[in-house]
Amino acid sequence: MLRNDQLDQWDRETFFHPSTHLAEFARGNAPQRVIATGKDCHITDRDGVKLLDAFAGLYCVNVGYGRPEIAEAIAEQAKELAYYHAYVGHGTEASITLAKMVLDRAPDHMSKVYFGLSGSDANETNVKLIWYYNNILGRPEKKKIISRWRGYHGSGLMTGSLTGLELFHKKFDLPLAQVVHTEAPYYFRRPELSMSEADFVQHCVDALEALIEREGADTIAAFIGEPVLGTGGIVPPPAGYWPAIQAVLEKHDILLVADEVVTGFGRLGSMFGSEHYGLKADLITIAKGLTSAYAPLSGSIVSEKMWKVLEQGTDENGPIGHGWTYSAHPIGAAAGVANLELIDKLNLVQNAGETGAYFNAAMQEALGGHIHVGDVRGEGMLCAVEFVRDRDGRAFFDASEKVGPRIAAALLSRGIIARAMPQGDILGFAPPFCLTREEAGEIVDKTAQSVAEVLG
Ligand SMILES: Cc1ncc(COP(=O)(O)O)c(C=O)c1O
Repeated sequence: MLRNDQLDQWDRETFFHPSTHLAEFARGNAPQRVIATGKDCHITDRDGVKLLDAFAGLYCVNVGYGRPEIAEAIAEQAKELAYYHAYVGHGTEASITLAKMVLDRAPDHMSKVYFGLSGSDANETNVKLIWYYNNILGRPEKKKIISRWRGYHGSGLMTGSLTGLELFHKKFDLPLAQVVHTEAPYYFRRPELSMSEADFVQHCVDALEALIEREGADTIAAFIGEPVLGTGGIVPPPAGYWPAIQAVLEKHDILLVADEVVTGFGRLGSMFGSEHYGLKADLITIAKGLTSAYAPLSGSIVSEKMWKVLEQGTDENGPIGHGWTYSAHPIGAAAGVANLELIDKLNLVQNAGETGAYFNAAMQEALGGHIHVGDVRGEGMLCAVEFVRDRDGRAFFDASEKVGPRIAAALLSRGIIARAMPQGDILGFAPPFCLTREEAGEIVDKTAQSVAEVLG
């Protein structure tokens, strides 16, 4: 195990952890765990405690932990050429091969891939490309981006603005003025209980139309959405939502960004969420599953329609003024190539679909009838259980009761990592795609025990 017995202290004194209660952590009152190793769906901490990671890190270790094929590809690349930049036409075998592999898997109308490092910077790139596109087309007023409440698109200035969660705005002076939010496609939280799914889709469409009318279509450049809402609560869209929304966007000449950071490369049981729900996006954001988080790498997949205008832009203005030192980093690219090869070789997209369906059905069966469970939902290898005080009246618990976090803690004490989603009492699951049925059953049984412990 680990050699340094001062890690706890160094951690509290020196390490600024993201998404953490800083004061409680520094005082030693918040959870602290040092992770040492990982294999398949499990991680082990430095004290030897082994946990089944039913959230695949941050829904990113899609192929599971400890894959030698990816580790070796990274090591080989580091030895041969750890770094060279991708500016002014430079590339490496890994980065060019990965671009080809991504395009081969993406919808047919997509044309090129720009590589970044994180989902946040990829969405930042997307917004810049959208603004550039409309400037080249002579539409300097058409710049606002519509996002959904409960969408998650990153935590930078622009991407944190796109994110529609209170915690990411509060005290940061966000959202920025160029971002406007519309209704989340969250049927369980529909305004009227009596609404049918079709009524609710119409309600989302009406809200979007009203927003566009209010702002003026000539000021709105794009709409960004995750095929399935992720961090906002793991919420698959109601039937017919995406076709109805896309019709509105087309009518007003508004670009669509499909943020597939979570859904890209198999999580829904299909290669992309765009394919799963029939989205025809102008830009697709990828990250997490691109390398299964073995190295940081993200991407913006650009459609042919936008690409032509970007080319026109550089003919008129010279080279595109956008790039990061680490764009298309060879080590990330080598990890990406090995990861996508492994996904194919082990049929992991299919397993995500099949084992994911089994897992969701088992969760529904175990918890669907519990008096404090309002909703069990999911798609592919994504699942969420939402807790309510009163099922029939759909009354929620007060946030101060911390029902979601308490159930997540009870589950952790049984050796399973799930995620208490940040807004609402929602327990989220996003296991690695190599999850077995036996492991799925273990997660469900222990979740039922944890719910019984906290809520009776
Ligand atoms: C849909 C989506 N987009 C973007 C991001 C941001 O990615 P990153 O944390 O790599 O910046 C995330 C992260 O969870 C995400 O879920």
